[in-house]
Amino acid sequence: ADHEIPHISKRKITYSTIKSSPFLAQQGTEQVRVPNVIVLVGLPARGKTYISRKLCRYLNWIGIKTKAINVGDYRRSACDLDNSEHEFFSPYNLKGTQIRDDCARRAMEDMGRYLQSKEGEVAIFDATNTTRERRQMVIDFCHAPERDPKFRVFFVESVCDDPKIIEQNITDVKINSPDYKGRMEAEQAKEDFMKRIENYKIQYEPLDEDDDYDLSFIKVINAGRSFFVHNVAGHVQSRVVYFLMNIHLSPRSIYLTRHGESEYNRMGRLGGDSPLSENGMKYARRLREYFEKENVRDLRIWSSQKIRAAQTASFLKDLAAHTEFWKPLEEIDAGICEGLTYEEIASRYPKQFNDRDKDKYHYRYPSGESYEDLVARLEPVIMELERQSNVLVVSHQAVLRCILAYFYNVNPSELPYVKVPLHSVLKLTPVAYGCNAETIPFNIDAADTHRDKPAWETSTENAIVLCHSPW
Ligand code: ADP
Ligand code: F6P
Ligand code: PEP
Repeated sequence: ADHEIPHISKRKITYSTIKSSPFLAQQGTEQVRVPNVIVLVGLPARGKTYISRKLCRYLNWIGIKTKAINVGDYRRSACDLDNSEHEFFSPYNLKGTQIRDDCARRAMEDMGRYLQSKEGEVAIFDATNTTRERRQMVIDFCHAPERDPKFRVFFVESVCDDPKIIEQNITDVKINSPDYKGRMEAEQAKEDFMKRIENYKIQYEPLDEDDDYDLSFIKVINAGRSFFVHNVAGHVQSRVVYFLMNIHLSPRSIYLTRHGESEYNRMGRLGGDSPLSENGMKYARRLREYFEKENVRDLRIWSSQKIRAAQTASFLKDLAAHTEFWKPLEEIDAGICEGLTYEEIASRYPKQFNDRDKDKYHYRYPSGESYEDLVARLEPVIMELERQSNVLVVSHQAVLRCILAYFYNVNPSELPYVKVPLHSVLKLTPVAYGCNAETIPFNIDAADTHRDKPAWETSTENAIVLCHSPW
């Protein structure tokens, strides 16, 4: 029986099995922390830029320094916008092909500098990369003899033959791109873009399980209806695969709110588990009225387990398809400072108070948490938010700052200062490459729990204003 095998020999057997497994061939003796390059592949209007930007946001948010580089941007700055009509992209247009190759090369060199500078860990190379020749050029660059360590390359190909999705992508995004905006009528732009796609199809060589056996790649088929994953190597690539398999494009909204004002909020005290104040109760009732009017299909409510949040959510319970209370949605744990006011912390623990102001994102309360810790605990929440349809999150100031930072690409130094006032709802609706934010303020008095970065720490504006343009 299993338990009779000595522990040590059991480990040996497992080890040799792993080493000889052809599926784990890339694990061998390779270095673990190497720069990663993610190379998009696909015809135009297959969501490559969308995927690049979204992935970039996600990786930065989880603390992996990432930059997305779009070759189309290089082309637009290298030549006249007249060169954005379909003829330019014909494989028979030698001048056009040369310009595009030059742009790809320059983009690649910038990518190399970024990864070499230690400033970056992952670069996303956003271009069509539809020919083997172009992909080989990127591989040769990443594996150049002088490079030590070599950049690890992962291809993400988006394959889509659903004419409805493509038509929608062109209408929603492409005709508004700088290639067309203000230069052509919508119908004409659409027609031109379809011809651009046809030009790319002439040379398109999709990634192939046999012909590209040695490469690492994922094919995202028809906007995530199915996937083909091949030869994944390392942490970054597996995070990318995991992320891509969780995102979806179905229309929906995410609603975010803090709990109603609590007794502790009124006293300026941090954390704790106090109930709603009278105004907090008022807010919970008005929140219900708001959701009655919104009449959201299949609404899921995710609430923190703290009393103030659960009380707020309980007013809406019968309007939701499902209400869940998540521990990871609880407020930042202020450790030894729980229950104190900012003034009390400043006088009792002056060093702690100053240290927090110096680097609020990384500062961890003794016996408590930092914003960085919060992001790590919220990662499963973000992933589940990506998977779901309409969701209302009832949580707290610091937690909602972290969630907003994910959607709005807010950097760690600004994240802890994002304004999330009490008694307002933020409605996020995905559009084009990002999401629209609508703030719905409720006219019910509440304490202001926001504390700005002290003037001595900053010379710029503290408050982050959330606004979004799809371009
Ligand atoms: P590309 O960079 O391939 O030319 P874009 O990223 O500019 O295409 O297209 C954006 C649109 O693609 C968005 O409206 C988004 O809804 C859609 N999209 C996102 N992911 C995918 C996918 N996997 N397949 C098809 N379309 C997608
Ligand atoms: O004051 C309300 C509150 O949610 C506290 O429970 C929490 O410690 C604080 O906000 C977080 O905000 P900050 O990180 O700005 O102190
Ligand atoms: C572009 O020029 O828009 C572009 C994506 O370039 P390429 O097809 O050469 O990668």
